[in-house]
Amino acid sequence: MNKETNKKSGKKLRVDKILSHLGLATRSESKKLAKQGRITVDGQPIKDTGLQVDPETAAIELDGQAVRYREFVYLLLNKPQDVVSATEDKWDRTVIDLLDPEYLAFELFPVGRLDKDTEGLLLLTNDGQLAHELLSPRKHVPKTYEAIVLGAVDEADADAFRAGVTLDDGYQTMPAELEIVRRYESEGADHAEIRLTIKEGKFHQVKRMFEAVGKQVVFLKRISMGTLVLDPQLELGEYRELSEEELASLRGE
Ligand code: URA
Repeated sequence: MNKETNKKSGKKLRVDKILSHLGLATRSESKKLAKQGRITVDGQPIKDTGLQVDPETAAIELDGQAVRYREFVYLLLNKPQDVVSATEDKWDRTVIDLLDPEYLAFELFPVGRLDKDTEGLLLLTNDGQLAHELLSPRKHVPKTYEAIVLGAVDEADADAFRAGVTLDDGYQTMPAELEIVRRYESEGADHAEIRLTIKEGKFHQVKRMFEAVGKQVVFLKRISMGTLVLDPQLELGEYRELSEEELASLRGE
């Protein structure tokens, strides 16, 4: 089934399929639940779980709890340090481990990666097409980071980043915008608070760009990706679903 077509045409789906898609009940469990009168559609208990309904508009309830069907889920996460941007990992906690069980059936994955010690904005979704568009190197989606850098960051670095710097593997970066927010001294060493916007996403790119100009990133946080901005209400490790406006603008609508 074409998921997009299904969504746009308001095509109907079987109730048992909806419940199983959401991880709420297998097909045979649904049958039992229906027999016990625990599934209602538009207020009426259903006997036949093969009943076809429009999942976007039908009011389905299981044990009196509304069943919110949606094909795609989009979560804005404020990633903490020490959590990896992966769906599973042998040793470390993953961003998926931060989610409530109700989200697990959606098989969400992170859109791109942040290093284990990087904080901030990470989009989690099961919408492969949107993920692909945001990550495509041809789309040049801007990503803005805040960082604390060890070293005397100055306008020469901003000029170098604007021109493109050569990373340790010989890769020449695309023009990037560096804003020096504050320079200060700590423990006898020069530091700077900066904001950097890059339009690509090479491995450890921000850290390696500063290494290319002889400086070291000691703290890194992503604050935006495309039109999506980190919500200051979200504490580290917290997340929320995107608003319709955020999603539409992320899609360029
Ligand atoms: N650049 C980095 O060096 N690390 C990140 O996590 C993201 C961008």
